[in-house]
Amino acid sequence: MKAGKSTIILFPFIIFFLIIQKNVFSQSVKTIEERVDSVLSLMTQTEKIGQLVQFSGGWDTGAQSTKPKTGSEELIAQGKIGSFLNIIGAETTKELQQIAIEKSRMKIPLIFGLDVIHGFRTTFPVPLAEASSWDPALVKKSARMQAIEASASGIHWTFNPMVDIARDPRWGRIVEGSGEDPFLGSAMAAARVKGYQGSDLSANNTIAACLKHFAGYGGAEGGRDYNTVDFSERTFRDVYLKPFKAGVDAGAATLMASFNEIGGVPSSSNQQLLTKILRDEWKFDGFVVSDWNSIGELIPHGVAKDLKQAGELALNAGLDMDMEASAYTKHLSELIAEGKVSMLTVDESVRRILRIKFRLGLFDDPYKYCDTDREKKTILTKEMREASLETAQKSIVLLKNENELLPIAKGEKKIAVIGPLGNSTIDPLGPWNQQGDAKQVVSVLQGIKNKLGINAEILFEEGCSIKGNEKDRFAKAVETANQADIVVLVLGESLDMSGEARSRATLDLPGVQEELAKEIHKTGKPIVAVIMNGRPLTITWLDEHVSSILETWFLGIEAGSAIADVLFGDVNPSGKLPVTFPRFVGQVPMYYNHKNSGRPYNPKDNYTSYYSDYSNSPLYPFGYGLSYAKFIYSNLKLSSKNISKIEPLKISVEVKNDGLYNGEEVVQLYIRDLVGSVTRPVKELKGFHKIFLTKGETKNVEFVLTEEDLKFYNLNMNFVSEPGMFKVFVGTNSAECLEDEFELMD
Ligand code: BGC
Repeated sequence: MKAGKSTIILFPFIIFFLIIQKNVFSQSVKTIEERVDSVLSLMTQTEKIGQLVQFSGGWDTGAQSTKPKTGSEELIAQGKIGSFLNIIGAETTKELQQIAIEKSRMKIPLIFGLDVIHGFRTTFPVPLAEASSWDPALVKKSARMQAIEASASGIHWTFNPMVDIARDPRWGRIVEGSGEDPFLGSAMAAARVKGYQGSDLSANNTIAACLKHFAGYGGAEGGRDYNTVDFSERTFRDVYLKPFKAGVDAGAATLMASFNEIGGVPSSSNQQLLTKILRDEWKFDGFVVSDWNSIGELIPHGVAKDLKQAGELALNAGLDMDMEASAYTKHLSELIAEGKVSMLTVDESVRRILRIKFRLGLFDDPYKYCDTDREKKTILTKEMREASLETAQKSIVLLKNENELLPIAKGEKKIAVIGPLGNSTIDPLGPWNQQGDAKQVVSVLQGIKNKLGINAEILFEEGCSIKGNEKDRFAKAVETANQADIVVLVLGESLDMSGEARSRATLDLPGVQEELAKEIHKTGKPIVAVIMNGRPLTITWLDEHVSSILETWFLGIEAGSAIADVLFGDVNPSGKLPVTFPRFVGQVPMYYNHKNSGRPYNPKDNYTSYYSDYSNSPLYPFGYGLSYAKFIYSNLKLSSKNISKIEPLKISVEVKNDGLYNGEEVVQLYIRDLVGSVTRPVKELKGFHKIFLTKGETKNVEFVLTEEDLKFYNLNMNFVSEPGMFKVFVGTNSAECLEDEFELMD
């Protein structure tokens, strides 16, 4: 039989299709690297550029729209888009994936990314709250649950964890991270990466993590978002880069380049950062995505004259995927033609993206995240809610408990819940709450009602709004307080006061809330203040005047239940602050691991480092948090007075629960390198253990310190330890510790 014309035309395509099938889908015989190379070898330049492009479903950050922009279908079919963000739903993502698989020549699956920061539909506590648990296993479980839920709704990749160190609470994005400390931040970064990605990234309920914002974003001058950052390479490496390195070591699939510059070089064009440190030093083999239009922002930064040059700088620096700037879409072909970007560079970026798509298993089953049945069964389940509740309970920090006002005995007292956040169901969701639903949120008032039952008399008055200046409802609130035996005063920030572009110049309770507190205080009723907020606040007046204070951050959908559990003693609070609380905004940036200076504060000497109008000390130090139990530390022991490269040091301490409640305590280990070739912080966290002690129980807690733990970037920027004397501190927070000394031998 003679071949007809159509058979002749189709023949090359059939052969091509068979090659793709053979090369791409025969997993059993090829490694991922070989499969990546096979795909790459068959791609056209246009298709390669397409893999480097990410567009949003909506016009703005956040999943306002679940559909792609008009025209996207066409671009997918032409292989001109590799990824979307802000598109959700098993069905919608399937429709788009089908276009990529069935209509595009190369059949390369799309990767769908989303900001799953603290939950998808089931809102978990904000990351700063979770870090207050000092419980990496719990945080890992929370991330795991979030991945299970998001993956069921078509999401392959979360733009989280945010691992930016934040030493300035004016910066609104402090809420998205794990606070001020590189050691705690590293533990949380690794836990979250492992939680999202699980033990098998190709499973259908694991999602790729994205360490962001790489790097130094939290160092914005004045705490103002997007602002200039300028610190030494030593501080950058010793402090800000540590959690990123920990996340890379934990296997994070991707990173996001940050908006900021450091010392004149914006991250999105920073080759030293994106290639030298990340790839050459750390051996990272995943891909880097830009932040939203951060390539375009190279123009206002003043390092690129136009979008074309911005694209050139970014890709050559090692920025693989362009989120929403269209620099690669519009200009990359031209840049390649002009020899400004080499095909090798493009290939390397495409390779990294394909590698992650392969690792996610998308080439083997592009629809594995698109099962509508699974979506229905997985979203907002009882199990999800329980996990959110457990995380919330462990994220609460007890800041003050004078005369043991807490826990409140159930059923004995008439309770007045007062304050603008007392019955809020929206604010406990916190910023970046994704598909969080206020209707699902248990408010503090509701949580207390649920706990005490219908017969309990619980009064409620808002007293004022969160931000407004009206005081007309004060009188009603005072009257209500007067009728009660105890007041639960729920104050703080609204959910939109922290997060991106939400920096503040003051850290006070907003509006007239402190004045409301003063009026309620005048009633003489015992007061428990419950604070909801996305950053440390200067609650100095409250600390001086009310009996008990609970820091609850934004705890998610089970906020009210978790808070009621703690108020009434069903849960003993065990959280510890991952950030220092200043007394006054003028003290910031304020962090425990600062340097000593040549003139450390000495009250007897005027010419030392202090504020002449205010105290030097924080309101609450890093690592601080009380319990209903009473923990006594004693018997700090070192296995030796020396530590060497081969002989680690064992440090032990006895902790006794001398109180009336069982409880958990976070035992913290700090060191100080007394003399170095460069100055060292006055304290550095090097270990922590969260232990449970029944009342009366004593436990011996042991830490092992190795020479590796004592390393830092020395005078010549080598990461080494230096022989000499060290102090070691073990205690309940960074300020209250037992201490001893040891020597690192040559
Ligand atoms: C934020 C990122 C976020 C991205 C995508 C940006 O504005 O800085 O943290 O992942 O938007 O929503």
